[in-house]
Amino acid sequence: MNTSHRTHQCSTQPIRRATFSRHPSFNADQCWQRAQQRLSAVEDLLRQYTVAPGLIGRAAAYQINTGGKRWRPLFLLAVGEALNGAHDPFIKLAAATELLHNASLVHDDLQDHDKMRRGMETVWHRFGSETAINLGDFLISSTYWALSQIEAPGDRLSSLVSHFAQATHQVIAGQSLEIEASRRFGIHLEDYRRIARTKSGVLMALPVVSAMLLVKAPRELREHARQAMLSLGTAYQIKDDLDDLFGRKAGRPAGVDLREGRISLPNLLFHSETDRDERQAFEAFIGSPEPPAPSELRYWIERLQQSAVIARCWAEFDAEVATAARHINSLPELLGSVLDNGKQMLLEAALSEKTGTQAEVSTNGAVFDVPQPARP
Ligand code: IPE
Ligand code: IPE
Ligand code: MG
Ligand code: MG
Repeated sequence: MNTSHRTHQCSTQPIRRATFSRHPSFNADQCWQRAQQRLSAVEDLLRQYTVAPGLIGRAAAYQINTGGKRWRPLFLLAVGEALNGAHDPFIKLAAATELLHNASLVHDDLQDHDKMRRGMETVWHRFGSETAINLGDFLISSTYWALSQIEAPGDRLSSLVSHFAQATHQVIAGQSLEIEASRRFGIHLEDYRRIARTKSGVLMALPVVSAMLLVKAPRELREHARQAMLSLGTAYQIKDDLDDLFGRKAGRPAGVDLREGRISLPNLLFHSETDRDERQAFEAFIGSPEPPAPSELRYWIERLQQSAVIARCWAEFDAEVATAARHINSLPELLGSVLDNGKQMLLEAALSEKTGTQAEVSTNGAVFDVPQPARP
């Protein structure tokens, strides 16, 4: 594996020049600075659109206050600066994307039985499963409420609403495909890519594509931006799968995907690349509906951590990042630079925050300095 995974450098490839931007006096760094400055207006809207009496209001306020990195509104606001539209609609659109993202997280944690997110207790664990279901639904409806408040010509608003509805369907379909594939190995790499693109990539693409829809950017450009963000979101999901295996998520144990029988990328590749005997043992472990014994879970976590599939996951990660870069290079100068900066920041944050130990990071795909675990 290339050590650049831990220190991804800014792309040196030139962005194709074109004249889409109507705000040539700004550069990409300034677009991101301005996005950061406008984020507090989005935070205000997140609170406004989630006010409600009683339990649901308390749960909503709790979830919004858990924070998160706010990548989706930041991407939207930075792209909005590059597109030079009026600010107010972009801020509402940014709030809508973050509300939908939070809805997906609240339901996801319930489905994954995760007790912690963003270093804090998850909604279902703190308020109960019934409230987590209600809050996810409530946040989806808040998303569409925020959208309905955008002042834009009727045809643009209807294409935005339709785009959000399609994105919502896709995320649910992605989660559903993942659940359907759980505890059995009926899917291939291509299916994994489709699941990662829909459950995670779509919500990364939504802010950028919806900002472009708002200003009626040409379809061809929207498509390049969409593909770039789908690939970036997929790379992000692959890193998330690795973080799960290595226990690098705040407050969460290692191996939740193994415990839950999810066909994450390491699980899928390990199953397809190991020998027949081990494959059968792994299938029996993943397929069991009973909670695994801690020693058995520990065994498989270490076995996968030390296997060659980690390098294969990084190769998939690199391929997705390269696809994203290719599409970004087809975008006009300022918009392309804004997405390129965003890509670098997102990857640098994801890779530096959770850097693995040397034992996890090999230069040739084989992991060294780690003793083989004993079978329980
Ligand atoms: C988490 O996304 C869900 C995945 C796509 C893996 P983020 O890492 O952007 O979540 P927050 O909003 O910053 O917590
Ligand atoms: C992330 O799901 C995508 C959605 C929430 C829709 P995961 O289950 O893979 O990610 P984390 O690790 O819980 O954020
Ligand atoms: Mg999860
Ligand atoms: Mg999940």
